Amino acid sequence: MPMHYADRVTRVEPSATLAISALASELEAEGADVVDLSVGEPDFPTPENVVEAGQDAMDAGHTGYTTSNGIPELREAIADKLQADGLNYGPENVIVTPGAKQSLYEITQTLIDGADGQGPSARGTSSRAGDEVVLLDPAWVSYEAMVKLAGGSLVRVDLSPYDFRLEPALPDLENVISDSTELLIVNSPSNPTGAVYTDAALEGVRDLAVEHDVTVVADEIYGEITYDTDPTSLGSLDGMAERTVTVNGFSKAYSMTGWRLGYFAGPEELIDQAGKLHSHSVSCATNFVQHAGVEALEHTETAVDEMVDAFEQRRDLLLDLFADAGVDVPTPDGAFYMMLPVESPDTEWCEGALEDAHVATVPGSAFGAPGYARLSYAASEERLREGVERLVDAGYL
Ligand SMILES: Cc1ncc(COP(=O)(O)O)c(C=O)c1O
Repeated sequence: MPMHYADRVTRVEPSATLAISALASELEAEGADVVDLSVGEPDFPTPENVVEAGQDAMDAGHTGYTTSNGIPELREAIADKLQADGLNYGPENVIVTPGAKQSLYEITQTLIDGADGQGPSARGTSSRAGDEVVLLDPAWVSYEAMVKLAGGSLVRVDLSPYDFRLEPALPDLENVISDSTELLIVNSPSNPTGAVYTDAALEGVRDLAVEHDVTVVADEIYGEITYDTDPTSLGSLDGMAERTVTVNGFSKAYSMTGWRLGYFAGPEELIDQAGKLHSHSVSCATNFVQHAGVEALEHTETAVDEMVDAFEQRRDLLLDLFADAGVDVPTPDGAFYMMLPVESPDTEWCEGALEDAHVATVPGSAFGAPGYARLSYAASEERLREGVERLVDAGYL
């Protein structure tokens, strides 16, 4: 007898990037040399002292469960980092999770109610739509999936007409935010655009959030990776402390994707509610990984600076190469992504570029930005040059 699948999973689409990775793997299996500009992880090793801290913690026997919300040393180090960003938090305001993705999952499950009969947390018998969540497009693909898993309804504001800047899009945001908006997700620096939102833009968001009593998720996972700009943490703005959940993690800044370590911070009441979900689902993040996280936060300044410098040089190189090819690309100020305007439909452009030039990129439409391809410059300068050359030679630029 076929199984019955819950609405909460059947309404989520598989990741659109899967088609590209599957095709890339197929080509590689056939012996092709694919320049992979589709990856969302730094191409640097985890700093050695962090690896050693993890090994030492294992040797010291830190292999059992920890306090559900995370070891006190790590939550203290995280609170110190958040204090430095202007957020007045202590260890009691933090939950450590296996990756920032899990943080976002716990937050959406904790804050979003589903529509009757659809969401995992449908309320009573009254007829209502799922809680409304506003996304700024282009947006990282998992936000949509997580909102759908929680049964929420999505409203989207498109930043593409403004070169992905938020400030000129504030009137559009004002048009869609209302008293029925439950949550707004802001990701700066942004995946996929690399945009870093200005203080004026963030203040505009704050004004709307306060006016309509909206909770804001500030995903700052790329916050350490910025060029010539020092981004403001949204929760540090006046009036935002009680309505912001700040998300961050170790994957990007410290090149620790496979370690699975992230966290979120917010008002204690939120931590109490989300903490129930956290303890009943994952129990805790991996013990020795949390110890490595303390080392990453406290002793990696040079390693992070070197990584960010390398990303900046690669960004500049790509911008030059595209300018030489006559393509105007919005300049990203952070993260390690760039949005390349391509011929529509972008899914066909990306498939073609992979098949003909063996260059892997992700279609912008996967992020709500048709007409673009997302390029990751977590690749060496040599591979970036090779990738652009191949795109030009094959007539894709
Ligand atoms: C915007 C954004 N937030 C969160 C994450 C989750 O990162 P992790 O679960 O590895 O900490 C990612 C990873 O790609 C991301 O791009």
